[in-house]
Amino acid sequence: MQIVVAGQGYVGLPLAVRAAEVGHRVVGYDVDTHRVQQLAAGQSYVRDVDSSRLRAVLDSGAYSATADTAALAGFDIAVITVPTPLRDGVPDLTFIESCARTLGEHLRPGATVVLESTTYPGTTEELLLPILEEASGLKGGVDFLAGFSPERIGNKRWSFETPKLVSGIDAKSLDAIKGFYDGIFQTTVPVSGTKVAELAKLIENTFRFVNISMINEMAMLAASLGVNIWEAIDAAATKPFGFTRFTPGPGVGGHCLPVDPMFLSWKAQQELGVPFRFAELAADVNRHMPDYVARRLVEALNKRGMPVSGSRILLLGLTYKYNATDLRNSPSARVAELLIDLGAEVRGAEPNIPDGDDTKLNVPRVDATLDEVAAADAVVLLMDHPRFDLQMIEKYATYVLDCRNRLSGVNVEAL
Ligand SMILES: NC(=O)c1ccc[n+]([C@@H]2O[C@H](COP(=O)([O-])OP(=O)(O)OC[C@H]3O[C@@H](n4cnc5c(N)ncnc54)[C@H](O)[C@@H]3O)[C@@H](O)[C@H]2O)c1
Repeated sequence: MQIVVAGQGYVGLPLAVRAAEVGHRVVGYDVDTHRVQQLAAGQSYVRDVDSSRLRAVLDSGAYSATADTAALAGFDIAVITVPTPLRDGVPDLTFIESCARTLGEHLRPGATVVLESTTYPGTTEELLLPILEEASGLKGGVDFLAGFSPERIGNKRWSFETPKLVSGIDAKSLDAIKGFYDGIFQTTVPVSGTKVAELAKLIENTFRFVNISMINEMAMLAASLGVNIWEAIDAAATKPFGFTRFTPGPGVGGHCLPVDPMFLSWKAQQELGVPFRFAELAADVNRHMPDYVARRLVEALNKRGMPVSGSRILLLGLTYKYNATDLRNSPSARVAELLIDLGAEVRGAEPNIPDGDDTKLNVPRVDATLDEVAAADAVVLLMDHPRFDLQMIEKYATYVLDCRNRLSGVNVEAL
């Protein structure tokens, strides 16, 4: 089939390449011309897609990257994987809107449009569908098909093996969408409607966000009560049922977990006039975690008679999750900002982000060498990384605030 994947980012590119590999003709459409040029030159910026795989589908002609809307003509299936950010707590669906207009202008009878972007329940039928209908002059469910299928790929282990939820605005749409994804994912899981699929994604991410925030709050309480939260979590995790292990950290980052629950919160407030209290509370706890990390550091320096102002602090691990290359909403940036505001001399080590690709990093970059570790008045392990020499850090750091419970010693305090 002729497939368009609109949005060639972290979600769209892996899907487009995979669809090309299984035999479709795929147009990877993106409005970012720089991104398109990179992709057309065979350079992948997404870790899940090796440049060699990208080049193979480019060379075979199965995949092309373009910013030219003329290339969208005649598609059988278009998948929308554009951003859905929050702006001041309000979902910004303008990317979906403009993408829908563009696709609508190229929609022909019999074609299918699937939304994959994370959003609140109702988006597919209340927002996407009317725009497609208006732009195309066609009727959804009569002339063309549509549905929602959330992106859930998580990591190398759970890539296209992750069961794919699929939904449609009607039975024919569901059939078409399921058929397409059956050829790409190991398992597809049909649900009865688009709102169920939209909400399912929000349940998954809210579950993680609320639980991580809960354990973060417990970590702060446990530290004040003089109880080792990490040992308590290990103890609780020996229960073979009814418990899921979550561990504390300096805050939940990324552009999914802290963002997605707010979609439901916004929708509930708009439509029902009530807040989604769990999401709001979790967001509040999460927002304050970097302040807590900074406070712990100030207290630790204070115990040694040192002001934070003028102290040299080395932050280790700046991405928001283990071994990731993604700095979006990383709590590390906020920790750094708070310490810099207090007058500290802050440096940061992040082996995953190549030099020069650090526009979101607000601290000078260094490697986590013995010299850097030994010269710091305090080291903060914000996120661990396989390249950090933990034994060396334990041995040579004057003081470590370990937000990941990876180190031990008299000079180490766990979060
Ligand atoms: N990254 C993840 O791990 C992940 C996981 C699950 C769900 N999601 C969701 O998937 C969606 C996409 O996320 P992402 O991480 O791939 O974002 P991204 O920013 O990496 O990529 C989105 C791409 O869409 C392009 N774009 C914007 N407007 C466009 C338009 N009108 N037409 C065509 N292209 C357009 C952008 O230029 C960008 O390249 C979001 O809703 C996100 O919440 C992401």
